Amino acid sequence: MNARPGDIAPELSAQAVADTTAMATETTLLNPRFYTTDFDELDRIDVSSVRPEWDRLIAQMKSDPNKGHFKKTDAWDKVDWAGMDPALKVEFIDFLVSSCTAEFSGCVLYKEMKRRGNNPDICELFNYMARDEARHAGFINDALREAGVAVNLGFLTKAKKYTYFRPKFIYYATYLSEKIGYARYITIYRHLEANPEHRFHPIFKWFREWCNDEFSHGEAFALLMKTDPKLTTSTVNKLWIRFFLTAVYSTMWVRDHARPEFHNALGVDIDWYDQEVYRKTSAIARQIFPVELDIDHPRWIPGLNRMNRAFIAMDEAKRVGGIGGWARRMAAGAQAVAAFVSLYTIPVKTSTLPDSVRMEPVY
Ligand SMILES: [Fe+2]
Ligand SMILES: [Fe+2]
Repeated sequence: MNARPGDIAPELSAQAVADTTAMATETTLLNPRFYTTDFDELDRIDVSSVRPEWDRLIAQMKSDPNKGHFKKTDAWDKVDWAGMDPALKVEFIDFLVSSCTAEFSGCVLYKEMKRRGNNPDICELFNYMARDEARHAGFINDALREAGVAVNLGFLTKAKKYTYFRPKFIYYATYLSEKIGYARYITIYRHLEANPEHRFHPIFKWFREWCNDEFSHGEAFALLMKTDPKLTTSTVNKLWIRFFLTAVYSTMWVRDHARPEFHNALGVDIDWYDQEVYRKTSAIARQIFPVELDIDHPRWIPGLNRMNRAFIAMDEAKRVGGIGGWARRMAAGAQAVAAFVSLYTIPVKTSTLPDSVRMEPVY
């Protein structure tokens, strides 16, 4: 059942696919982006300083523990899309499209690195990671097809704007997104394991094995960063890490708070869920990041809420349009910047990096 990226089931209406693909193609501050980087610099990485850990990780990826996982089995219960509450349906489809785009964004970046590289270590790693992300995106797209929509992944590759990041920014951002992906999937999985009456769609049953792929991908980026200690120890880079932590965490807050019906159906309090995901991600990130955001600081949640209000105001202003809308958008943008500065300047916790970077998923 697992489709290749770009496959479109014939029964889908062209309009439904076009609309969903347009959703995924849109570039906003909050939508998942596609990235490109200096692939030659990435190709020059020498992993010999982390060789034993590297070889173990690659061997594990090569063994492909999730080879047969992303297929619908009898555990895939029938979904009553027609009977789903319309508001929930809109948010859930939005969640699936955004997850599919994020998964596919990883696939595109990793595949490109594999295609352009000459370094056998790097090519092998990126080949396995692209394989996993293609499966993840394809599986979500399968779920979308049942709702009569799908993302045209082939089209997306060509139409979506690519954001250029220097390799070190790719490491910080991608490492974080892989570890956050793990923390998000496992937190939902464990919550639904304890509260199965809230499992309104079968895809959540697949999250446990799924998140282990994301965990391994994060491990790979931790090892890549470990090959160049400057990346995580120089003063400037620590400020960059702090920047990425703040940006990624606050984006997640705003995105999740835009889906109240979805979290309601899951029986999840969004504030609790996001804090829980930050807590797990921060605990894992101690393997490679010497700084950690203080998510229990009195300014943390108020700052995130301020950021959320600013984004809602920006959205409304965009709908209003005209000069009035433009002025309101500028004002809301300034509020978002102020909220970001307030979050960024919360004193961070620091730690010394462990000698061995590797970790196992324990949640
Ligand atoms: Fe993935
Ligand atoms: Fe991943």
